[in-house]
Amino acid sequence: MSKAGPILVVGREGQVARCLAERAAARGAELVLRGRPDLDLINPASVDAAVAAVRPRAIVNAAAFTAVDKAESEEASAFAINETGAWSLATAAARAGVPFVHLSTDYVFDGRKPSPYVEDDATAPLGAYGRSKLAGEIAVRAVYPAANILRTAWVYSAGGTNFVRTMLRLATERPVVRVVDDQTGNPTSALDLADAILTVLEGPKRGGKLYHVAGRGETTWYGFAKAIFDGWARRGRAVPQLEAITTAEYKTAAPRPANSRLDCAKIERELGIRLPDWQTSLEACLDRLAEAGDR
Ligand SMILES: NC(=O)c1ccc[n+]([C@@H]2O[C@H](COP(=O)([O-])OP(=O)(O)OC[C@H]3O[C@@H](n4cnc5c(N)ncnc54)[C@H](OP(=O)(O)O)[C@@H]3O)[C@@H](O)[C@H]2O)c1
Repeated sequence: MSKAGPILVVGREGQVARCLAERAAARGAELVLRGRPDLDLINPASVDAAVAAVRPRAIVNAAAFTAVDKAESEEASAFAINETGAWSLATAAARAGVPFVHLSTDYVFDGRKPSPYVEDDATAPLGAYGRSKLAGEIAVRAVYPAANILRTAWVYSAGGTNFVRTMLRLATERPVVRVVDDQTGNPTSALDLADAILTVLEGPKRGGKLYHVAGRGETTWYGFAKAIFDGWARRGRAVPQLEAITTAEYKTAAPRPANSRLDCAKIERELGIRLPDWQTSLEACLDRLAEAGDR
């Protein structure tokens, strides 16, 4: 990566975008965040204008239509942002000739594989969000073969909308919380993911890779919730009773893969990137939330 210019991150208020800003500052790397309304991925002119104005040395696409259930009824919007929008940004990155990292998801898989997914496994999204993200991967790869695409999963942080914050909200609202115990995945701290993205950008110039990158270790949503409430109770907070249920008992608009586990051996082998154990990073997040006086 050339030294001139900042890293441009699209997705200003998103959890990964904000964590990228925090981690870049800690590393002394210059980074600017852009997002709606100035840079709207569905408006290619706004994308081109932002890239021309910022003159970045690298670009990260951390923006997406991420509302998995809403995507079922708003599939066209999901595709406009996750496919066409990603294509516009990748086109601008290709024209500028700068490294480009695009984020994708475990939801490109149907979850029927009995073991963690590797990068070469066949994709078969179950819902509109997954289909739009897979279309985005294909579009980015087509227009900018040197792009690096990182698939991640179950992302949380101390800010934004995510499972950890939802559980802590429910803890204040309900005596009993029921959580599905038959979907397995890798909880991923957005701060850890941000570090991984910055390391990819600092790494060998050679791009064009697809990597899985997620928190180390695995659990179910119920196991994740249990760790959240156990950790919260250890910090002296009130927690609800937790009950395990099945996916069949918890109706959602979009179907979810039963197996969301990502095998992250390739990024460790090739770039030395290995995210911490998910429990360790969850504790760090809970510390932040407790210090901030959350709930
Ligand atoms: N969250 C997860 O569990 C998860 C799992 C796997 C993969 N991922 C992927 O990781 C990436 C980052 O996710 P995240 O959790 O940080 O998402 P997030 O917190 O939902 O943030 C997404 C950001 O994208 C922005 N955005 C949406 N449409 C846009 C548009 N048309 N133009 C510009 N910005 C737009 C949103 O802006 P507004 O504030 O204007 O709405 C928001 O700030 C995404 O590619 C996502 O698909 C996430």
